[in-house]
Amino acid sequence: MGYNLLKGKKGLIFGALNEKSIAWQVAERAFEEGAELVLSNTAVAIRMGNIEELAAAHGSVVIPADATNVDDLNNLIDRSMERFGGQIDFVLHAIGMSPNVRKGRTYDDLDYGFLQKTLDISALSFHKVLQCCWKKDAITHGGSVVALSYIAAQRTLYGYNDMADAKALLESIARSFGYIYGRERGVRINTVSQSPTETTAGSGVMGFDGLLDFANRMSPLGNADARDCADFCVTLFSDLTRKITMQNLYNDGGFSNMGMSNKAMAIYNRNLEDCRDCQ
Ligand SMILES: NC(=O)c1ccc[n+]([C@@H]2O[C@H](COP(=O)([O-])OP(=O)(O)OC[C@H]3O[C@@H](n4cnc5c(N)ncnc54)[C@H](O)[C@@H]3O)[C@@H](O)[C@H]2O)c1
Repeated sequence: MGYNLLKGKKGLIFGALNEKSIAWQVAERAFEEGAELVLSNTAVAIRMGNIEELAAAHGSVVIPADATNVDDLNNLIDRSMERFGGQIDFVLHAIGMSPNVRKGRTYDDLDYGFLQKTLDISALSFHKVLQCCWKKDAITHGGSVVALSYIAAQRTLYGYNDMADAKALLESIARSFGYIYGRERGVRINTVSQSPTETTAGSGVMGFDGLLDFANRMSPLGNADARDCADFCVTLFSDLTRKITMQNLYNDGGFSNMGMSNKAMAIYNRNLEDCRDCQ
C-alpha cells in the first residue's frame, strides 16, 4: 500500500540486478510511493540481470554506469537531470562486490589488487557519486542520499572478509560528506545497516545460510528482508526524516544490540555435547 510519501520526487537508484536485489525492492516501493526514477547499473549487470524489465514496467529508464568511473557518473547525472528537467531528490547507493570473496581469498591471504577493487567498488564509488553530484549541484536542497551497509563495519563477523573494511569506509564517507552536504546544501546522507539478505551479493559471503539463520535467531524481530529495507529507505527519502543525517541506522530486527538469545542458545546447547573437542 502506498502513502504518496515520494509523490513528485525524483530518484536515482544504483544496484538493481534482479528481483532479489535490495535496490530492486527499493525501486518498487519508491514507484509505489509516487516517485519518478532513473535506474543504473554496470553494462554487464544490465545484460546479465533483468533491470530493463523493472524500468519498462514503470515507464522508467536504465542508464549504464560503472560507479567507479567518474566519466560514467558525470554522464549518468547529466542524463538523469535532463530527464527530470532539474535536480534529483534522492539517491540510493546499493553497490557492493569483493573479488577476494568471489575468489575465496581469506582475510589473511588477501590479494591487494583485489582489495583495491573491493574498496573502489564498495566504498569509494559512494564518494565518487557524492562528489559528482556535488560539483554539478545535482541534489535538491532537502534531498536525501542512502547507502547500504552491514554490521561487519563495527563487529567482526566470520567470513565477511575485506567487505568489512569497505563498509567501515563507506560509513565514514557518509559522515564526512554528510557534514559538508548538510551544512552547505541541506542534503541528508545516511547509511542503512541491513540484516543478512538473500541476494546475489549476500549469498556470496562464506557460510551465508548459517549466518542468515544465526542472525534470525538472535534478532527479537527476526531478520529484516529486502522489502523491509525498502520500506525504511522510503521513509529516509521522504520529507518525514528531514533532520536525520550522518547516521548509520540499523534495520536488523534488533540484532545489533543482542549478545545471546534463547533461540540461538537452543542450537548452541544442542550441539555442545557433540562439540566438546571442537576448536
Ligand atoms: N545481501 C545482504 O546480506 C546485505 C546485507 C547488508 C548490506 N548489503 C548491501 O546491500 C547492497 C546491495 O547488495 P544486494 O545484497 O542487493 O546484492 P546485489 O548483488 O543484488 O546488488 C549488488 C549490486 O552492485 C552492483 N555493482 C557491482 N559493481 C558495480 C560497479 N562497479 N558499478 C555499479 N554497480 C556495481 C551489481 O551489479 C549489483 O547490482 C550492497 O552494498 C551490499 O553490500 C547487503
